[in-house]
Amino acid sequence: MPALPAPFPAARPRRLRKSPALRALVRENVLTAGDLIWPVFVRDGDGIEEPVASMPGVNRLSVDRAVAAARMAADLGIPAICLFPYTDPALKTLLCEESWNPDNLSNRAIRAIKAAVPDIAVMTDIALDPYNINGHDGIVRDGVIVNDETVAALVKMALAQAEAGADILGPSDMMDGRVGAIRAALETAGHTDVAIMSYSAKYASNFYGPFRDAVGASGALSGDKNTYQMDPANGDEALRMVARDLAEGADMVMVKPGLPYLDICTRVKTEFGVPTFAYQVSGEYAMMQAAIANGWLSDKVILESLLAFKRAGCDGILTYFAPHAARLLA
Ligand code: PBG
Repeated sequence: MPALPAPFPAARPRRLRKSPALRALVRENVLTAGDLIWPVFVRDGDGIEEPVASMPGVNRLSVDRAVAAARMAADLGIPAICLFPYTDPALKTLLCEESWNPDNLSNRAIRAIKAAVPDIAVMTDIALDPYNINGHDGIVRDGVIVNDETVAALVKMALAQAEAGADILGPSDMMDGRVGAIRAALETAGHTDVAIMSYSAKYASNFYGPFRDAVGASGALSGDKNTYQMDPANGDEALRMVARDLAEGADMVMVKPGLPYLDICTRVKTEFGVPTFAYQVSGEYAMMQAAIANGWLSDKVILESLLAFKRAGCDGILTYFAPHAARLLA
């Protein structure tokens, strides 16, 4: 517990709130553009910016537009973007072979962005859902999401992304053993400097709905993801997942979703002291953006919500608001 202040009137806490200068002096946390990772949806074509209905202000970008977006983000001081592909439904299969195609949409986007904007870090998503006829993150056999066969596919997917030039790999699939398998394969292939940000504490959340629209997985998804993503009722389990992923070779860990799970962010940072990130997910974005668009909330809620992650102990935040936030901060 912090020391108790002197009794009133010796202590008048408002003395330190009386002006912007005094408030700046005693401010405990700061948010900067350098804390942000911007998730971007990519699609086929050229010159295309296709709105995502459930995420006003977010577009699916063709690769050329994604390159322009990466340049804009770098100019705003945003250090990383994270790519999510909207895959042509005709390429979706039971075994998700497109996920490790060296020339799939995601890998083409990585190459194009690294060639044009080498300074920005490119993060990827490792999970089979954009490529899966079932919409699941893993391979489905007789209605069961099979773990080990999925991990073998994820390793191939990770190697293709590293080969394409990804800086940070983000396994978001919640299969067991995937971080260790990916790390071992990266070492063997000579990709010793590719970082892993594991979606360690990823909950089976209803806040992912708009994202599944954005990547075209909503229609495909049969059932729910409760046999692999975490039960929202659990906190201790999140710490075990973080410990496990660190032991397997994760460089950074993530909690997802964000604001409803701030307690988990704080527990992870306090317990492990490692680079800790939160994902302010699509449903969180949609809620705030809808209220902002209606004039019910000021867009200042964006910075307030992101600062909350810093106060909770996060080192950074994945957020669809990244460019908007960076402009508000500038
Ligand atoms: C894919 C993945 C999801 C998100 C990130 N990677 C969806 C899911 O698990 O169903 C959600 C991101 C968001 O809602 O913004 N495994």
